[in-house]
Amino acid sequence: MAYNIVTIAGSLRKDGFSLKIANALAKLAPGSLKLEVITPAGISFFNQDLEGAPPADWLAFREKLQKSNGVLFVTPEYNRSIPGALKNAIDVASRPYGKSSLLGKPVGIISNSPGPLGGVSAAKHLQNILPGISGPVLQQPEIYLNGVGDAFDADGNLTKDSLKTVLQQYIDAFAAHVAKNQG
Ligand code: FNR
Repeated sequence: MAYNIVTIAGSLRKDGFSLKIANALAKLAPGSLKLEVITPAGISFFNQDLEGAPPADWLAFREKLQKSNGVLFVTPEYNRSIPGALKNAIDVASRPYGKSSLLGKPVGIISNSPGPLGGVSAAKHLQNILPGISGPVLQQPEIYLNGVGDAFDADGNLTKDSLKTVLQQYIDAFAAHVAKNQG
């Protein structure tokens, strides 16, 4: 049976490159992984006042993560960090205190940008955020995808061979990371 991987594309944009990359990864993934691609859409703002009676969308998101065998983040970079919607989703996942839905889950981080720097600052911020609330983060290979703006055709299919190659290497390494880190 394949490991179930929640793959979070970090922007809300319907034509987002992060979403297209996540969908490409779902196709490239080896048979040992099944990627479910989601975005932070529909996760209401975290508010500590609501923790006693959490909104249904928080509970559904947390349950999805808890039932998974691992989580893969595909994040764009907004102003040298991750998009606010993604940070909000992580804040929701991290609570209640000490009971993060990401605890023990093997995690992967992929950043991307149509620009030259590949969203490396966003990836670095995620690397700061996650270790206290998740399982082990895959450290190598690192992957910061630049120039993603011309990597897809009009139907959203990945057409850039160089990008396909690095994504394949990454998802194969992530599959090994997931298999090694099941509780
Ligand atoms: C950006 N963009 C951007 N790109 C980058 O490489 N570094 C950055 O710091 C930023 N900052 C930034 C802030 C805001 C508010 C927006 C809207 C955009 C450009 C960004 O990489 C581009 O819009 C991507 O297409 C966003 O990712 P998705 O939605 O395509 O996955």
